[in-house]
Amino acid sequence: MVRHLVTIDDLTESEIESIFSLTDVFLAEMSRPDKPHRISGRNTLANDFILATLFYEASTRTRFSFESAMHRLGGHVLSSADPKTTSAAKGETIADTIRVLENYADVIVVRHPCEGAVRVAAEYADVPIINAGDGGHEHPTQTLCDLYTLRREKGTLKNLNVMLWGDLKNGRTVHSLVYGLARFGARIIPQPAEGFGLPEHVTRRLLRDYNCVPVAKDDLQEVTEGQFPVDVVYVTPDKPHQRSLFSDVKEKGADVLRVRLPHNALAKIDACYVTRLQKERLPASASEGAEPYPVVDLEFLKDRRYRQSSVMHPLPRVDELGYDIDTDARAVYFKQASYGVPVRMALIAALLNIKPEILGATPPQKKHFVYSRQTVQCTNPRCVTALESEQRYLSPKYLVVVEDAHLVSRCVYCEHETVPEFVGRSSTKKYEPNHMRWDNVPEDIMLFQDEASAIAAAFQPYKQKIKV
Ligand code: NCD
Repeated sequence: MVRHLVTIDDLTESEIESIFSLTDVFLAEMSRPDKPHRISGRNTLANDFILATLFYEASTRTRFSFESAMHRLGGHVLSSADPKTTSAAKGETIADTIRVLENYADVIVVRHPCEGAVRVAAEYADVPIINAGDGGHEHPTQTLCDLYTLRREKGTLKNLNVMLWGDLKNGRTVHSLVYGLARFGARIIPQPAEGFGLPEHVTRRLLRDYNCVPVAKDDLQEVTEGQFPVDVVYVTPDKPHQRSLFSDVKEKGADVLRVRLPHNALAKIDACYVTRLQKERLPASASEGAEPYPVVDLEFLKDRRYRQSSVMHPLPRVDELGYDIDTDARAVYFKQASYGVPVRMALIAALLNIKPEILGATPPQKKHFVYSRQTVQCTNPRCVTALESEQRYLSPKYLVVVEDAHLVSRCVYCEHETVPEFVGRSSTKKYEPNHMRWDNVPEDIMLFQDEASAIAAAFQPYKQKIKV
């Protein structure tokens, strides 16, 4: 079975570890002693292979490092850096472009402005597809570089305190990274620009799928000022059931959770991951973006807790990261960009099966049931399913996720979540308010975004029998 990398969840933790071990080998064998983070020379591992880069959005690091990685492996590269020079400009669909390109290359790296577009590419390809960023959704290979950098700098990914700065709402690197960090046991401390916090569906998924509660901004402040005898994090759960996920929880007010952390858990920040405002993802009316946008510079890093912080950035930087840090030992962002080559060499070697021991035969199993009836819609306007060109052939699909006592539909492509108002079963043709009263999601479940859609599907309201 062909393996793809579209989201960071397409790899298991042990597969990620194996990619990192191979990265270590490439660096050990192919770097110079004075530049241990940089690959030089080339080997012959991918002599017989061609990699294509299909980028519908601007890129410097990702595209060049993929191409460099393929050259370093002795392979060959086909590249289209400018979407205006591909048939997309003539209205060709993603599915058709991929079904043509797979004849010319053994692995295809795709960057696209629409969320979920690379999943579409993967569905139509019989060669590995790698997501180099799909809109504001995910950027899993950047996450591999980020996690590798952290592991290299800190020796481990467990129990690290990682602070995330800037535009956490639109930054795709951050979205893949938080899932990766959560899976490897790091603690996430978001420090977003005002109004640019992690999207709600990302936070909910962190809690639901990885039992991870990001540390809230204000609470970090309170801990600094010594107002609490122990370090704490809070979460404002959307649903009461989420409280049961925590073993040591005290409530503060009606909708705030308090989770106890080990003493002094937040006294040392291991890494500050800084990101720029994603201007290209903002509506034209909001082009000024966030004011003031948080800036990380030497002055900021004076605080004791940042004494050993690695300063990271996926790059490019604009004004959010001071140039005064460049010569400070804590700045690792150029090293992080440099690791892009050996990490991507390892990934290419794994996906092309040149190193068959790295990836399992099948991708990690999705825990959720796939729903493909067209009775609900993805509500994300930036989803690939909203593109007229792709609607000609694409039929939306959803994972049915159980949250609390109701069902949530997660778009298979962009992974946004929507809560349908009504549910029913095709065997009974009855509908009722969205309430999960079964032990498992029934195979004949029907999701309706509103009552009108249930009625339009010729469903009748379900009347509960009243016991007397
Ligand atoms: C990032 C991206 O494209 O999402 N850049 C990169 O790939 N290293 C980050 C950004 O553009 O801000």
